[in-house]
Amino acid sequence: MSIATDHPTYNYKVVRQFAIMTVVWGIVGMGVGVLIAAQLVWPALNFDLPWLSYGRIRPLHTNAVIFAFGGCALFATSYYVVQRTCQARLISDSLAAFTFWGWQIVIVAAAITLPLGLTSAKEYAELEWPIDILITLVWVTYAVVFIGTILKRKTKHIYVANWFYMAFILVIAVLHVVNSAALPVSPFKSYSAYAGTIDAMVQWWYGHNAVGFFLTAGFLGMMYYFVPKQANRPVYSYRLSIVHFWALIATYMWAGGHHLHYSALPDWTQSVGMVMSLILLAPSWGGMINGMMTLSGAWHKLRTDPILRFLVVSLSFYGMSTFEGPMMSIKTVNALSHNTDWTVGHVHSGALGWVAMISIGAVYHMIPKLFGKADMYSTKLINVHFWLATVGTVLYIVSMWVNGILQGLMWRAVNVDGTLTYSFVEALEASHPGYFVRLIGGLIFLSGMFFMAYNVWQTVRSGSSVAKAEPEPAAQTA
Ligand code: HEM
Ligand code: HEM
Repeated sequence: MSIATDHPTYNYKVVRQFAIMTVVWGIVGMGVGVLIAAQLVWPALNFDLPWLSYGRIRPLHTNAVIFAFGGCALFATSYYVVQRTCQARLISDSLAAFTFWGWQIVIVAAAITLPLGLTSAKEYAELEWPIDILITLVWVTYAVVFIGTILKRKTKHIYVANWFYMAFILVIAVLHVVNSAALPVSPFKSYSAYAGTIDAMVQWWYGHNAVGFFLTAGFLGMMYYFVPKQANRPVYSYRLSIVHFWALIATYMWAGGHHLHYSALPDWTQSVGMVMSLILLAPSWGGMINGMMTLSGAWHKLRTDPILRFLVVSLSFYGMSTFEGPMMSIKTVNALSHNTDWTVGHVHSGALGWVAMISIGAVYHMIPKLFGKADMYSTKLINVHFWLATVGTVLYIVSMWVNGILQGLMWRAVNVDGTLTYSFVEALEASHPGYFVRLIGGLIFLSGMFFMAYNVWQTVRSGSSVAKAEPEPAAQTA
């Protein structure tokens, strides 16, 4: 379909498609998150239906928010950024269209197979082998389109955002292929190519780097384009961006062992994981500081620009979760936090505070430009969304901190005769109020997404149009 707002130079169609689906999958994925949060308060909400049971729809939530919501946001922004900063159209419209439709089929296949209980049982890599093959095809095509566009760029330099996107695309390809290696025994069942401790180590090498490259490097790419653009300021330091880029890439690969503390993994491997996680604080904060300092001289804009607020608050949550993560990787701290809701709180300070907030800010920035409008339909509604997202995230993570520390302390409390002070059920009962507060936080966050959908819908259908064919200012592409 060709619409009146088609850009003369760039392929905005695929960006529009991915941007709209970011909002749609955001609502679906977070809606399932709210449902499982409600099930932890009222377990009867699984209605005794196997395909609504917690064990089956929890991975549906994680896949939908990470790969559908986060994935569409990454596709949309990377295609937008690479074209504008390279001043070149994507190398192939049909290959780009294949990545869109292929990715949507992967998501729908996940939404069907996971509730049916078809799973490889590897966290964040649950999908069975036929879907894994489709993911590989889509991803290789994505790499060809993205890197091909960089190769035909009209600018001299490769803008730093594209470095981060490129690392994300290449590393995810390697992680996916290595971790998904399996022996199929039927169309919907396969067995991992690895066994025992090695399987665990490969899985968490994958799992942690999925955090490092899918949930971090890709979103840092987003940060490096949208924060300077929205603030209308140059990136604070290009030197810092390159230094923390290489430091991040070099360190993340070694940190996965912190997911397997006190397990059958050799002790030295766990210690390497811990030390590398502590080192990781520095490159992570390098990115956070670079983003924050980009606002030098533009802080006053935060008073009036809720999109900038989304972007800056996301950086604060990024800084917070990358401080918390290294602390949790210290073996003695992990002895308390592991398997408790503290981990879930940490996950969502990264997932809601960082990943979701920066994606939301980037989508609000892009939508008017993609559809040839002067602005979003309502800035007031963006502001309402900002507060709902912030309050929702804070309620979520604070309740999980309280629950996590409570659970850790109750599980380890012993009487003088060495018996346990509390039974497991007593710790569960004590967690109940926290689960309720988390549910409220989740509902508040989700309600903000509905405001976003309404605002986007009104922007797209509104009459006022402006021509948006301006090339990227040179300062952004240097
Ligand atoms: C309305 C928003 C959300 C709600 C209510 C929600 C709720 C939940 C709940 C109840 C769990 C299960 C926790 C457990 O088993 O104890 C969970 C897990 C998880 N969620 Fe969310 N979530 C939301 C948004 C997100 C987003 C946006 C992301 C990612 C971008 C995300 C990523 C995850 C991950 C990775 C896990 C697994 C955590 C682990 O295994 O430790 N969630 N979520
Ligand atoms: C310097 C950066 C970070 C370090 C060192 C780190 C470290 C950790 C540690 C120690 C755990 C607990 C492992 C366990 O006890 O099982 C954990 C869990 C987790 N973190 Fe982080 N973290 C970092 C940043 C982030 C960010 C920014 C996100 C999200 C955007 C994130 C997402 C997760 C997820 C999804 C899990 C749960 C994995 C699972 O058990 O399913 N982390 N992290």
